Formats: sequence, C-alpha cells, structure tokens
Amino acid sequence: MSRKKLNIGLFGFGCVGFGLYEVLQKTPGLKANIKNICVKDKNKAREISSDHFTFDKNDIFNDPEINVIVELIDDADAAFEIVSTALKSGKAVVSANKKMIAEHFTELLELQRKYNVPLLYEAACCASMPIIRNLEEYYDNDLLESIEGIVNGSTNYILTKTFKDNISYDEALAEAQQKGFAESNPILDTGGFDAKYKLLILLAHSFGFIAQPDELFNIGINNIGDLELKYAREKGLKIKLVAQAFKTKEGAISAFVLPKFVDAENRLFHVDDVFNGVITKTSFADTQFFVGKGAGAHPTASAVLSDISALSYDYQYEY
Ligand code: HSE
Repeated sequence: MSRKKLNIGLFGFGCVGFGLYEVLQKTPGLKANIKNICVKDKNKAREISSDHFTFDKNDIFNDPEINVIVELIDDADAAFEIVSTALKSGKAVVSANKKMIAEHFTELLELQRKYNVPLLYEAACCASMPIIRNLEEYYDNDLLESIEGIVNGSTNYILTKTFKDNISYDEALAEAQQKGFAESNPILDTGGFDAKYKLLILLAHSFGFIAQPDELFNIGINNIGDLELKYAREKGLKIKLVAQAFKTKEGAISAFVLPKFVDAENRLFHVDDVFNGVITKTSFADTQFFVGKGAGAHPTASAVLSDISALSYDYQYEY
C-alpha cells in the first residue's frame, strides 16, 4: 500500500511535542514533516529556531498543504476547540489529550462521521503501549470479558518509589514531575482522574460503552497512608492504582479506578516505575498481558508517531 505524504501542523511544544520533533528526525522512512508549530507563549526559550513557530492558529488551519493536525497541548478545553476546528476543516487529527477525548467522546465521534476525517489517539491511553489499536483490530471479533490494569505512569512511579526506595510521597511526586511524567495539575494523576479518562477511552474501544467522567468512581493514591504501606510490606503485597472494567452476569458494565493490594501472583505486581500494564480477558484468546512505558517524552511520542504512520495509510478507528 502506498503511503500518503503528511504535512503536520503541531499544536504545543512541551515535553511530548519536543519528543515528537526528535523522533521524527530519526524516522526518515515516514514521509511526514512538521510544517508549522503553534505555541502560546511568545517569550518562552525553545530548543529549536523560532522560524518553526507561529502564535496564530489560523496559520495552521488555513494552510492547504497541512493535512494532519497533531494536538499536544495541556488545556482540554482549548484542545477540544483545536481538534473540532481541524475535523471541520477536513484535516485528520492525532491527539494525546485523554481528558479532552473522555469528556467529548460522543461529539468527537459525530464530527469524524460528519466530516469523514479520522481522529487517532493511541498516545492518550498508556503512552507507548499499543492498546487502542489492539482492542479495535485484534479483538474485533473476540468477546471481551474484562480489562484491568495500571494506566497511569506517575502514580505507579510514586507507589514504586515510596514502597521500594522508602522516599516520601512528596519527593516521589516531585521526581515524577521533574521527569515529565505528571500532569501540570498533578491531582489529575494522584486523584485517579487521569486513569479514569483512560479507562473511559478503553471502555469505548473494548465494550463500545460510552460514559461521562462523572459516571465512574475514581479513588486515587493521595490518601494512602503509612498504615497501608506497612500492611503491604508485612504481607508481601504491593499497592497499585488499578483501572478495571468487566461485564457483570446481567450483561451490565462495571468500571472504576481504585488502589488495590496485589500479590505476586498478579501480573500487575511486577509492573513498576513508570510502566503501565493491562490484562485483557476474552472468550477465545483467554488472558493476555500488555506492558510498556506509560509516560515520558519519547514513549508518548512513539504512540503519536505510530498514529501519524497509520494516517499515512488512511487508517481510522471503526468504533
Ligand atoms: N500523567 C500521565 C501519566 C501522562 O502519568 O500516566 C501519560 O498519560
């Protein structure tokens, strides 16, 4: 199959944006180049020449040569504005914004159908671990029973560090922020909200179940205290922030995010640091286990890169 040439208009040049810029320099096989980058802050010092940047989003939307918008900004409301404008202009979109996708799933689906343009977001869920396209394609005709996993890198990093290295919660969180794993507002990570947005995306692609963030419970790691850590150590357990969804006997979907004690028999016990791990259970394939880095510049950029590559073949989710 021949590959389409892609001219990218990039929104945002933070940790992942710069990561994408770097990985694209190293993938000459892919005919994709970043034509223009839209950023907000005119005064910020950046790693590359100012010739690459614009401060006016219309320079990107009105450029007929730009056929792909890659949205990597932090603000979910501004991201929705960018993504919906792009889809309405017939430009394909790649986004890593889980909050924006989880909050606007139905509207985004309608826009894709109405304007017949794809929106891909592998990076929005578990960064480098290819889970959405596997759910979409590999399990297309299998019957999914449950999905369970660690889907937030920062909290897994914090739990690992406080447990193994015995450093304080605040120090571990500061490390996760310094390494570019945490959200700018880290309560999204520690409160289990980021994990819930990802679970909502997984639910849509696994069970075809679309729900709003308010409809699911999320309990984070911010209230785990010394008592729970002591209990886990004494019993040879670990605490993991687990996102879980399964079909009940009555056929309803139950889904939530909460910290759990796990023992060494559980595969998630062995998923540490910034890694994410997801266990699927299906009727025919039985149990499968995915693992990969769940945050960080290059791991997240690798998922964005994979979506860009998929767009060069005109791939789109079937839903
Ligand atoms: N803050 C997120 C995490 C980034 O720690 O998993 C990747 O989605």
